[in-house]
Amino acid sequence: MNEDKAKSAASETMLNQLMEIARVSALAEMASGIAHELNQPLGAIATFSQAGERMLNRAEPLVSRALDVFHQINHEALGAGEGIRRIRRLFDQEEATRVRSQVPTLVAELQPLLEMLASRVEGQLQVDVPAALPDVFIDRLRIQHVLFALVQNAFEASAQNPDTRLVRIAMDGDRYAVQTSITDSGPGVPADIQDQLFRPFFTTKPRGTGLGLASSRAIIEAHEGTIGFEDVPSGGGRFWFRLPAAAV
Ligand SMILES: Nc1ncnc2c1ncn2[C@@H]1O[C@H](COP(=O)(O)OP(=O)(O)O)[C@@H](O)[C@H]1O
Ligand SMILES: [Mg+2]
Repeated sequence: MNEDKAKSAASETMLNQLMEIARVSALAEMASGIAHELNQPLGAIATFSQAGERMLNRAEPLVSRALDVFHQINHEALGAGEGIRRIRRLFDQEEATRVRSQVPTLVAELQPLLEMLASRVEGQLQVDVPAALPDVFIDRLRIQHVLFALVQNAFEASAQNPDTRLVRIAMDGDRYAVQTSITDSGPGVPADIQDQLFRPFFTTKPRGTGLGLASSRAIIEAHEGTIGFEDVPSGGGRFWFRLPAAAV
């Protein structure tokens, strides 16, 4: 019994550390990438424009040398733009590697981590797997990131419920698509913020990043899928995403 408790405390610490690392590193990576790509060209632009100013600010302005300097400035600015596109590509993850997969298998692989999210709030995870679903053609890790982000939010919301802390994952499909939904026993989402949920950096949590839903939407849309939220009549919230079925 005690051993079990110690074990779950250890996984809890590990999970906390993992999430903190993921949180800080995604932001730090993006920030340092942008700083790196912009610092050098901005420094060069400052130097060139000072030189240009000196060349023109003379009794006999050095017009053609100043023109050269303008070209340099233009060149640096275009380079900076290219740098920013590089960072965006990094975060768009164009080079995704996709394979045919079954969504229930992805959920099963992730289940130990999802159970840890449950145990942090003394909640319960329920997974309903239907008999048969079509394959989807996906980047497995990215779709697992989406599952993790949605289940994490679901337990964080359910933690506000003093009685029931239940999160249910359900899957459903036809020959066109597979839909996965995550239903929680939390308070739901107030109507006036429903259209902001997926905006980058939108958060109502004191230590939130506001990147969970935004990154999930980017990933699902890169898979030609859709993602959304709906109120559950019995109270609570439901996030769902739909992925096209892989060609037979
Ligand atoms: N299951 C949910 N129930 C209620 N509100 C939610 C749920 N999931 C997300 N939200 C709202 O959407 C916001 C953005 O979520 P997210 O992008 O994951 O960022 P974060 O969790 O860091 O705040 C949350 O701060 C919360 O207000
Ligand atoms: Mg979140």
